[in-house]
Amino acid sequence: MSVKIDSESPIGVFDSGVGGISVLRELVKIMPNEDYLYFGDSVNAPYGTKEVSVIRELTIKNVEKLMEMGAKSIVVACNTATSAAVRTLRQMYPDMPLVGIEPAIKPAVEYKKNSRVVVMATPMTLKQDKFQKLMEKYDTQAEIVPLPCPGLMEFVERGDLEGDDLYKYLNILFGSVNQSRIDSVVLGCTHYPFAINAIRNVLGDDVKIFDGGEGTAREMRRRLNEAGLLNKRTENGSVRFINSRDTEEERRLCEFLLKLKW
Ligand code: DGL
Repeated sequence: MSVKIDSESPIGVFDSGVGGISVLRELVKIMPNEDYLYFGDSVNAPYGTKEVSVIRELTIKNVEKLMEMGAKSIVVACNTATSAAVRTLRQMYPDMPLVGIEPAIKPAVEYKKNSRVVVMATPMTLKQDKFQKLMEKYDTQAEIVPLPCPGLMEFVERGDLEGDDLYKYLNILFGSVNQSRIDSVVLGCTHYPFAINAIRNVLGDDVKIFDGGEGTAREMRRRLNEAGLLNKRTENGSVRFINSRDTEEERRLCEFLLKLKW
């Protein structure tokens, strides 16, 4: 791989589908002058119910695609792909500024003493060592309740952010964790912030919701700065969406999600 990169090259952002756009929008917010290449692997989504070796292989292949297209840095904007592949990617490409995402447990635990924190994520993220270690680190300070959400990312992939079936799904889901005793919820999958209105409506305004998008974007900016790779131009950059499901409908969904306010 010998594509020349410099500070004007784009930042590559990868997710199993459209979920990583919740991280992309945080990146654009704090670094509007950068160009972005977003790759979503919607044809192979969901990743979160697959074997770890399969997720690792798909993630490496897709991140390499972004590198071949000239990305100067990579954001793995997917909790599932991060836990399956980021360590390997760092070993393979030690010089590439590479940032992953993990469930934002720390701010949730710090928000309120001795609270009950529900962590929503894919079955795969919650099963991994990386998450188990993260949970152990904080489980003396709060009651941490992992909540696997198979099937939830598919609503977002379909662009269904507030339909009846989504409400039905969420009511059953939170019914399984004693809904009345939740202090905060961590959105540990990058698709879930797009369902935040429905989640809020089901849980009520007293439940505080956290996600890792903003922290991940700040970490990318720090890494680019350290590497001398921040773009110096002052005008706004561009966002280019690429998806393994190469349809007009998919592109429209990506544009819609990037502009969505919540
Ligand atoms: N967006 C991904 C995450 O953050 C997962 C969705 C999937 O199952 O592919 O975990």
